[in-house]
Amino acid sequence: MQKIKEIIAKKITEIISNTGYKTDEDEILSFIDIPVDSKMGDLALPCFKLARIMRSAPPKIALELKESIGELPFIKRVEAVGGYLNFFVDAFYYKELLDRILFDADYGRSEVGRGKVVCLDFSSCNIAKRFHVGHIGSTTIGNALRNIYAFCGYKCVAINHLGDWGTNFGKMIAAYKLYSRKEKVDERGINELVDIYVRFNDEEKKNNALSDMARNAFTKLENGDEEYLEIWQYFKDISIKEYNKTYELLGISFDSYNGEAFFSDKIPGVIEELRQKNLLEKDNGAFIVRLEDYNLTNTVVLKSDGSSLYVARDIAAAIWRKKEYDFDKCIYVTSAGQSLHFAQCFKIVELMGYEWSKNLVHVPYGTMSINGEKLASRTGNVIHLDDLLAESISKCEKIIEEKNAELKDKKSVARAVGVGAIIFNALANSRIKDTNFVWEEALSFEGNTGPYVQYTYARSSSVLRKAGMDSVDDVKTAYPDLSSEEITLVKKLSEFPAAVNRALEENEPSVIARYTLALCSDFNQFYHNCPILRSEGAARAFRLKLTKCVRKVLGVSLDLLGMKRTEEI
Ligand code: ARG
Repeated sequence: MQKIKEIIAKKITEIISNTGYKTDEDEILSFIDIPVDSKMGDLALPCFKLARIMRSAPPKIALELKESIGELPFIKRVEAVGGYLNFFVDAFYYKELLDRILFDADYGRSEVGRGKVVCLDFSSCNIAKRFHVGHIGSTTIGNALRNIYAFCGYKCVAINHLGDWGTNFGKMIAAYKLYSRKEKVDERGINELVDIYVRFNDEEKKNNALSDMARNAFTKLENGDEEYLEIWQYFKDISIKEYNKTYELLGISFDSYNGEAFFSDKIPGVIEELRQKNLLEKDNGAFIVRLEDYNLTNTVVLKSDGSSLYVARDIAAAIWRKKEYDFDKCIYVTSAGQSLHFAQCFKIVELMGYEWSKNLVHVPYGTMSINGEKLASRTGNVIHLDDLLAESISKCEKIIEEKNAELKDKKSVARAVGVGAIIFNALANSRIKDTNFVWEEALSFEGNTGPYVQYTYARSSSVLRKAGMDSVDDVKTAYPDLSSEEITLVKKLSEFPAAVNRALEENEPSVIARYTLALCSDFNQFYHNCPILRSEGAARAFRLKLTKCVRKVLGVSLDLLGMKRTEEI
């Protein structure tokens, strides 16, 4: 509809300037809305917004504009109702729009990112721990953003900033030496590492000597002790191997696994730079950067025992990434709990004089509960992502068995839908909102869910399959009158590029998720009210073409969200 909006805005601007008032075409364009009720037209100009410019009452302005507007392309009728000028779009326009959607291989794509680089730091889990469900937000939002940025022409660098450094690795190594050995870890993987870590923490409460052991072990590690580094590397390899199974299931890969450890040897350089730039202060033996003037708490960058901190590793990482990738934007997707951390980190980079600090963007998200219960390792309510995915897949297998026992390849469909349900659930609401995961809701084929979207996509595929998909393109349609369901659906399809754009600007995949739901709902209305395969001639051709466009846009939407297309369910 953008094209028509522009035509109208141009004409209105012309009329207003002819009457001697000053106005701006972009401003007029921004006033034009799509009325909720299509009886009020397909587009409307609320004239009270012009009252200031034209110094007159809105109903009078509407009438005057209607008198002077004359013929406009694609507009079959203009009405002045109260303070509104309502425009009714010609069916011909919708047909043309449909052709554009169908034949434009890049429909919805934009070029805003051409020649630009964006780094996306997401998922970033902590090694030697299992993939906690708390990371699902970062993993799914980050991956969807990466797809959206790539779709808009950006070169994307997906970074898994592994949590693989810090004093807890001193504990891990000490625990390993005390309670475990390689064969056990080989056999039990991360579970063994988690168990010995928990045991170490318990025993440390009774025995101070363990704390000293842990501290010494970390110092050895930081000083590059070969044996210790080897153990640490072993933990890391085991962890990545395990995470990769989950990433594979989710269809996610990374360009870099340079995590916290990678930056540990770059800390002294950063500390020296902070010192030279007069940003470093000694405080009780530790080193801090003062940020109270900026409404932020002062930030410790180096502990009194000389060991570095999370924030220092992030400062080093930002500087390194800028040098390595020369990014135009660097995005960090983490829970909102880390908002202060990133505010401090970005401020320090700014104070160091790096003007590109303004291109560091924290993208926070809310917490996820399961069946109303908050997830916390302390209360024991820990759910692991691989378990959650496995359960979802097996539940989907049962549902599919009941719904469509004949289906070929049930296993891989269950996999696509089970995983899709979890992804969609994590992406469906504004990311900052806290979400609650409920099995019955997430797996329903009727609610606002992943299975519903994938099922609708499969439905569109099935219609086209039955019609003989390829015969659809070349039908010349002269179908004169469109039903309201058809018009609503074409209009919804035409909103896709704007949805992509908004998702990009707001770093908000939920915009695509919600758009997808709306498209599914409009398609299902159409499907139930307008016979497709049973209709004839031009109507049949038009409806098949419409179905083909829906399948195309739904397919791209699923790709952007990081979900699999399912041709049959
Ligand atoms: N490992 C961290 C966590 O699990 C997230 C890291 C996010 N990225 C970063 N550059 N700090 O909470």
